[in-house]
Amino acid sequence: METHEINRRFTDHFVNAGHTKVPSASLILDDPTLLFVNAGMVQFKPYFLGEVPPPYPRATSIQKCVRTGDIDEVGKTTRHNTFFQMAGNFSFGDYFKAGAIEYAWNLVTGSQDAGGYGFDPDRIWPTVYHDDDEAFELWRKITGLPEERIQRRGGKDNYWDMGVPGPGGPCSEIFYDRGPEHGREGGPVADEDRYLELWNLVFMQDERGERSPKQGHKPIGELPSKNIDTGMGVERVAYLLQGVANVYETDLVRPVIARAEELSGRRYGADPTDDVRFRVIADHARSGVMIIGDGVTPSNEARGYVLRRLLRRIVRSARLLGVREPVLGSFAEVVRDAMAPSYPELVTDFERINAVVRAEEDAFLQTLSSGSRIFDTAVTAVKNQGGTQLAGDQAFQLHDTYGFPIDLTLEMAAEAGLSVDEDGFRRLMNEQRSRAKADAAARKTGHVDASLYRAVLDNHGNTVFLGYTELASEGRVVGLLRDGQSVAAASEGDAVEVMLDRTPFYAEAGGQQADTGYLRGDGFVVRVDDVQSPVAGLRVHRGEVTAGTVTLDAQVIAEIDPARRSGVSRAHTATHLVHAGVRNALGTSARQAGSLNAPGRLRFDFTSPSGAVSPAALGEIEDEVNTVLQQNREVEAYETSMDEARKLGALMFFGEKYGDRVRVVDMGEYSRELCGGTHVHRTGELGMVKVLSEGSIGSGVRRVEALVGLDAFRHMSKEHLLLTQLSDQLKARPEELPDRVAGLVERLRVVERDLEKQRAEAVLSSAGSLADAAEDVDGTALVAVEVPGGVGANDLRALTADVRGRLGARPGVVALFGTDSDRVTFVVATTEAARTRGLAAGKLIPTFAGSVGGRGGGKADLAQGGGTNPAGVPDAVAALRTAVRAH
Ligand code: ALA
Repeated sequence: METHEINRRFTDHFVNAGHTKVPSASLILDDPTLLFVNAGMVQFKPYFLGEVPPPYPRATSIQKCVRTGDIDEVGKTTRHNTFFQMAGNFSFGDYFKAGAIEYAWNLVTGSQDAGGYGFDPDRIWPTVYHDDDEAFELWRKITGLPEERIQRRGGKDNYWDMGVPGPGGPCSEIFYDRGPEHGREGGPVADEDRYLELWNLVFMQDERGERSPKQGHKPIGELPSKNIDTGMGVERVAYLLQGVANVYETDLVRPVIARAEELSGRRYGADPTDDVRFRVIADHARSGVMIIGDGVTPSNEARGYVLRRLLRRIVRSARLLGVREPVLGSFAEVVRDAMAPSYPELVTDFERINAVVRAEEDAFLQTLSSGSRIFDTAVTAVKNQGGTQLAGDQAFQLHDTYGFPIDLTLEMAAEAGLSVDEDGFRRLMNEQRSRAKADAAARKTGHVDASLYRAVLDNHGNTVFLGYTELASEGRVVGLLRDGQSVAAASEGDAVEVMLDRTPFYAEAGGQQADTGYLRGDGFVVRVDDVQSPVAGLRVHRGEVTAGTVTLDAQVIAEIDPARRSGVSRAHTATHLVHAGVRNALGTSARQAGSLNAPGRLRFDFTSPSGAVSPAALGEIEDEVNTVLQQNREVEAYETSMDEARKLGALMFFGEKYGDRVRVVDMGEYSRELCGGTHVHRTGELGMVKVLSEGSIGSGVRRVEALVGLDAFRHMSKEHLLLTQLSDQLKARPEELPDRVAGLVERLRVVERDLEKQRAEAVLSSAGSLADAAEDVDGTALVAVEVPGGVGANDLRALTADVRGRLGARPGVVALFGTDSDRVTFVVATTEAARTRGLAAGKLIPTFAGSVGGRGGGKADLAQGGGTNPAGVPDAVAALRTAVRAH
């Protein structure tokens, strides 16, 4: 049975039983406790906790999940995977244990003809939490299984929570007996390899605190209702139903291995070391593509770093399989084709995904080639000294200078039979980090422990944001910090952080800069310089008390600077338009990668599949954007469901937030994006948008900078003034200026060339005067002069010989230095009389060549050389004089 069919049956089974089908949430949900979504229940967490009323009593989903805890184990075994799909059914205070057990049992053991999975009931082994007699009895009653097939287990196995404070509960797991050839008799308590867990049914009823009931600690409370959260491992069911040995052999994963076989010419299954590489590629390609699909790009922080590691491990593995050419694009294609039936956005977004993987691969191959040389040298040095360990500072240097992640250094060192002084490495990293932190702390006021913010959030809930419609509003001080500490009051001159129950202030987010303004209360004023949201839901006003004393609980009028706000809003609307313009011009794989909206100006970063944007294309984008301004379209913002937003084709990058409500900002058909920012009401308010520049900021990402409104106008009028001045000075109409300037530049070049030629000719005909001006150095005639103008070596030699001839029978040394801006050529010649005094041209050169940054040599009568430091000629002449005097 194909994986997509397994998913379809799961969904049908639960939809038929009254569940609402909910699409998979993005892998990137706004949950500070998680790097990636790792279970089906994550998007429903607020419903379990009672924070948000559930919109449906029961739901079902196939959730994409990523768990990256043991990346290093992936490939070494066939069990570890970073990406998997979790099929789940959820009840929010609706059915409980009996329902969950019955639904699961029917699907698992129901015949394939009737839409089930058709597992043999005689091979199914359920487990229950050790004292959950209720579940034990239900299993017996509902399934008719004998008592010995239902096993009791402790908290470690049969209590589930998210690993952090939040919802949790005892659970029941469903195991499948793969048969005696896979291990010992005795059920899951005896052997979890033979008895494979298929499905976990969590009876979600507790709130766990800091310490988990898994380790026997008491939950801190009960959830408002008794719920069900289940998770079935789709990949496991797939490999059992497909009759293959493990997940790497299933219909969705094997094709990647096949592509790797094609590219490398090696076979999976032929060599255990190669097999590890094949599996790393297959697993990581899937998770990498899915993660990029949800909007992450490789970076050195958090998710971006995990992604970078995954992609780089693929490239390395492919190289170890002997593939030298780029591979990521090719693997991404296979993943797309395998996964598309369940995740159609992989097809529509493929150009972007492809651009991201290719850029990362290019960057990595560069890093590899420069860093590998350093690495090899270090390894050889260690081995030559009989060592077995790479020093911490070497690993640090590889990281700091060559961008080698420590994991890569560890892997490569292990392959070379060496260990790495990881402690030493981490010490250096920490030192660097604390330096960076100290710098940052010096720049910004106070670095506060997030728990203080969380406490305010817990006590007072989210800050209500009024700023979409209000520029000023009343509010109450619900949190007050000074120097990172909670205080009850703060007075004039104090730097403070103020939290209000409601505010019109926009906190910096999504590229939009924060509002500034004032909080005014009875006898006090706080100037707000910045607003941040250090924990989701809370807005923190940072600034200074400029008069009186602000206290906790005080009432304030919060008012933002309206001019700054409208400048920022104009820039934000303009950013959406530029985004749309860029996509219209370059194709839909051009995607926003970052932005900045400041008063009157914007920066917009995007992935560009085709590299630089030509000036012509940039001009078109600008033209189109300004046309839309002139149409004075209405800018509408509204809330809708995620589904509806998707149907409307709204651009979205990250899983926005919990629940299903999202905010869409819409300018008719032209631009439609999910966005929490503030905007103008009609595009005409922007006045104009002027694109200033376009350039690369690395890794396939381009940056456009633009001015908006009056700032754009002022910029253009300044440029116009410059143009008028130029046109006056050059006596040409503005449209003639480019030709005129090009003509001038060309003429200048011709004139300079002529001048140089004349200068050289003059020099070459100056042999007589040079000889006449010879200096007497203790009886030797010395001619040592600089000949500027880039005279060629042949001419210089001829001139030197000519001057020497004119010195006749006298002892004489001639040294001419031909120079241009960055080079020196020199020729030295001696007369016969000089040579009898022991002055040899070839021997004189080393006495001065260093001064002009060069060297040379030759015979006793004539020698020559060159250097790179024309400024050193006077020193060289002095050195030569000294050398001659010594004879
Ligand atoms: N949330 C449960 C799990 O992840 C179903 O296993």
